[in-house]
Amino acid sequence: MSSRWGESTRSVHLRARKDPVTGAIVPPISQSAAYAFDDLESWRRVALGESDGDTYGRNSNPTSRLLVERVAALEGAETGASFATGMAAITTSMFALLDPGKRAVTIRDAYGATFLMFTEILPRFGIECVVCDTDDTEGLEREIATGCDLLYLETPTNPVLKVLDIAALSALAHEQGALVLVDNTFATPVNQRPLELGADLVIHSATKYLGGHNDALGGIVCGRSELIEPINRHRELTGAALDPHSAFLLLRSLKTLGLRIARHNENAQHLATFLQAHARVEQVFYPGLESHPRHELACRQMRGFGGVLSFTVEGGMEAAGRVLSSLRLAYLAPNLGQVETIAGPAALTSHVELSAEQIEASGVPASLIRYATGIEDAEDLQADLEQALGRL
Ligand SMILES: Cc1ncc(COP(=O)(O)O)c(C=O)c1O
Repeated sequence: MSSRWGESTRSVHLRARKDPVTGAIVPPISQSAAYAFDDLESWRRVALGESDGDTYGRNSNPTSRLLVERVAALEGAETGASFATGMAAITTSMFALLDPGKRAVTIRDAYGATFLMFTEILPRFGIECVVCDTDDTEGLEREIATGCDLLYLETPTNPVLKVLDIAALSALAHEQGALVLVDNTFATPVNQRPLELGADLVIHSATKYLGGHNDALGGIVCGRSELIEPINRHRELTGAALDPHSAFLLLRSLKTLGLRIARHNENAQHLATFLQAHARVEQVFYPGLESHPRHELACRQMRGFGGVLSFTVEGGMEAAGRVLSSLRLAYLAPNLGQVETIAGPAALTSHVELSAEQIEASGVPASLIRYATGIEDAEDLQADLEQALGRL
C-alpha cells in the first residue's frame, strides 16, 4: 500500500487484486465454517499462528480479515478485530482489557447500551466504573487524575452531538497509565482519526456509516497489535464473530465511504443551518454550527462534522411526535449513518434500553428528535422538514 494514498483510494484498492483464476475484481465471500488441510503439520502451523491461514470461522475468516485491514488502514492503525455488532466490539474489548479492581472512567453521554454496560454489567465483575458529566471537563479531568486504568470516550456523542477533546484527555489519561478507547462511529475515519490524536483504540459500530446501506450489522476495533491480540483472543473464546456475508457487504460499502461522508456532512450542515433559523425549532445540536459550545474544538479535531443532527421543537413530546410522523422522506427507525434519512426520538433510538428515569437523568431532552441525514438531495430533505414543521 502506498502511504501517500488518500482514504478513498485505500478504501477501494488496499490489498485488492483480481482473482488469479477467474479475474474477479470483487473479493469473494469466504462462506465456509471450517478450513481443511492436506496434512496435520500444515494444520498445526496455521492453528498455532506460525503460518497465515484460517482453521475455523469463529476465529478468523478471509473476508472479515480484509475488512479489518481496510478499516485499520483508514484509521491509521496497525491492526484490528471484527465483531458481529458494535456492542460486541465494545463489550469484548472491555472484558479483554479490564480485570476486577480496575477503574474505568467514561461519560454520561455514551450510547445508551454502552452506558448500561458501564453502570450495570462491568460493576458486577468488580470493575469500578465512574460515569462523568460530559459537559463538566474539570470533573472528568479530576476523575482521570484520581486513578484511571481505562478512559472510554465517544465523540461526537449520540444523540446530542457533544464533542470531547481527544488529545487533551488522552494525554491526561496516559499520565495515569490508562488506555484510551474512542467510539468513532459518528465521525468515521473520514472526519476524525482518534489514534492520531493520541487514543490507543478506536471502535466502530460498522452497522452505521461504515456499512451505510441498512443491510449489515458489524463492529470493529483498531489499534496496536499488543492490544488487539487479547481482544481477538477474547472474541474467539466468547464467539462474537462477524459473519462473512456481512463482512462482504461492509467491504462493498467501504468503497464509497469517502463519497457518502462528504454528502452526509453537506446535508447535515445545510439542514442544521435551516433548522436553526426556523421559528418552531427551539434548539439544534450539531458541531458544525458556530452556536455549538465546542464548535472550535470540533473544527480542530474533525475534518467534517458528520451526518447526524438533533433538535427540539416548540410543544415538547406531542409536537415532536407530530413532526416525526409527518416526515415523508425520513424512515422512523432506530439506525443512523445510512444512505436513507432516518429519524426518531432519543427514547426509541439511542436510549431505547434505558428507563424513563435513566433517560431523564441522562440530560437528553425527552422530546429530542435525532435526525440522521441520508445522501438524498439537501433541498428535498429541507422541503420535507419544512412541511413537517408546518404541521405545528
Ligand atoms: C455510537 C454508537 N456506538 C455503538 C453502537 C452499537 O452498535 P451496534 O448496534 O452495531 O451494536 C451504536 C448503535 O447505535 C452507536 O450509535
